[in-house]
Formats: sequence, structure tokens, C-alpha cells
Amino acid sequence: MSGVEELIERAARDLASSSYAIALTGAGISTDSGIPDFRGPNGIWTKNPEAEKRAYETYFRFLRDPAQYWHDRLTMGTSLLGNLQEAKPNPAHYALAELEKMGIIKSVLTQNIDGLHEKAGSQRVFEYHGSIYKLRCPSCGCRFRYEEYDLKGLLAEGKLPPRCRECSSPIKDDVVHFNEPIPADVAHASLEEAHRCDLMLICGTSAVVYPFAELPRVARYRRAGSRLFSLEQEKRTVIIEVNAEPTPLTREGISDYLIQGRLAEVLPQIVERVKKLRSQ
Ligand code: APR
Repeated sequence: MSGVEELIERAARDLASSSYAIALTGAGISTDSGIPDFRGPNGIWTKNPEAEKRAYETYFRFLRDPAQYWHDRLTMGTSLLGNLQEAKPNPAHYALAELEKMGIIKSVLTQNIDGLHEKAGSQRVFEYHGSIYKLRCPSCGCRFRYEEYDLKGLLAEGKLPPRCRECSSPIKDDVVHFNEPIPADVAHASLEEAHRCDLMLICGTSAVVYPFAELPRVARYRRAGSRLFSLEQEKRTVIIEVNAEPTPLTREGISDYLIQGRLAEVLPQIVERVKKLRSQ
């Protein structure tokens, strides 16, 4: 059995014996759906560092002038990530949805805005960086579907920005931009999941963007086995990475092991091994 196969077997056993496993995902799980990631070899920031610098300005542009922000959004070309609405889930998304159906994965905390986890059938998904399918009021947190607003009509009538139906503040896309606070409801729920889980399966993230990258550390130091806190001897959280390359979580020993490979190949193999273990 090769090193990767041994680790797939180990991950299947860990998942099968977990009581509250959660998955954390990043752009790497969607590259096999044709959506580029950000920092991998063909990532959009890797290939266009200027675009990343501009992305750090987006949220401030909204705060400065919401009407101009919307005018630019409604008149500019497609998103840097391409036409996300057309993308389809790949075997990695379906594998996580299957593990949820099997009662093993209790939630997916994703940084992705593409909605592919729900399209694959995952029910309990926390969209940490928002969704391309929704609008959100930064003042009161209310979310709306795009279809609820006639944005082109507001543009034509010079009535931008769209306003919240609850508190009348200017609303924005639900997508969370750099420097923008994570919506309180998702931030709180994700922290709860990180505290509660006894297994964290981290799929396709370079783990360099905070505060999302803090969640594995919360899971690590929350349960015993950390050198920082003398917690009562609780079962140490198992933290597994599946990624094309090592990350700071690997190097700092936050994760117990890294299965280095393609998610669309590795995750379905883990599911098959879990099924075999359960049939024994
Ligand atoms: N299988 C396994 N790993 C993969 C695959 C694949 N098919 N494709 C890419 N990867 C790996 C890359 O090697 C990289 O380590 O997934 C990781 C993706 O990392 P990033 O591109 O940095 O994406 P992510 O971690 O989700 O970025 C976090 O940064 O720009 C912001 O808001 C944006 O949510 C995003 C955040």
C-alpha cells in the first residue's frame, strides 16, 4: 500500500470512529469544477498580483460610495473567477455530501462563494466568505436573493444603491471582501463548530487567510494535546488535511497528517473505504 493509500485508510478509520466530524473547504475543492483557485500554481492571485491588490480596495470602495460601487459592478465584465453560476459540483463535493448523508460530516465550513456544496447536496453549509447568489445588508445582516431586486432597473433610473428592506441601509453582495468583517451569524456558528468537532477534515485551502485559518487552531488548542493549555484530558481533535501541497497547518503541526493529492480523487476513495469499514 502506498503512503497516500495508507493515509486514505487512516482517514477513513478516523472518520468512521468520529462522533462530530466537520469539513473546512477552500478554493482547491472547486478547481476540478473549472473554477481557478487563488494561490495555487494557476491561481488568479498567483498569475495577477495586481488583481489581488485591487481586491483589497473593494470593500472600502463600497463604504466610500455605495452608488458608485454598484454602478461599477453592474457595468463591469464578468468576475475574475469566470462564470461561477454555470459551474457544476465535482466528485469531491459529492463525497462530502455523501459523508453528511452517512451521518459522519455534520457541517461544511467553506470559504468558497460558488454554492457548489449545496448543489452537490450538502445540507449544513456555512458560507464563511458569503455567496454569489445573495445580497446582504452590512448594517443589520439581513440577506436577500438577487432576484428580489431589479438592479438593472435601479441603474437605469439612477436609484442606486439598492437598500435593505428591513433597515433601508445600502446593501452589497453577500461575498465577503478583504478587510470586511465576517458576518456575525456565520462567524459565531463556525467558531461553535470548531469548538465542538472531534475531527476536522480540511480540504483545498492554503490556510493563509484569517480569520478562517484560525478555526483549525481553535480545534487544535481547544482539545487536549496542546502545550498551551492544561485542559482536562479530552480526546484530542483529529485534524486531517487533503491538499495538493503542504500549508502552514502542516508545517506547524496543527494538522495530524496531510494527504497530498487531488481532492476529486482522494475524497471519493476515503468514502469508499468508510463504506467498506461500515460493512464489516
Ligand atoms: N486538489 C487538492 N488541492 C488543490 C486542488 C485540487 N484539485 N486545486 C488546488 N488545490 C490547493 C492549492 O494547491 C492551494 O494550496 O488548494 C489550495 C487553494 O488555496 P487558495 O488558492 O489560497 O484558496 P483558499 O485557501 O480558499 O483562499 C482563501 O483567499 O482570496 C481569498 O476570499 C478568497 O476565500 C478565498 C481565501
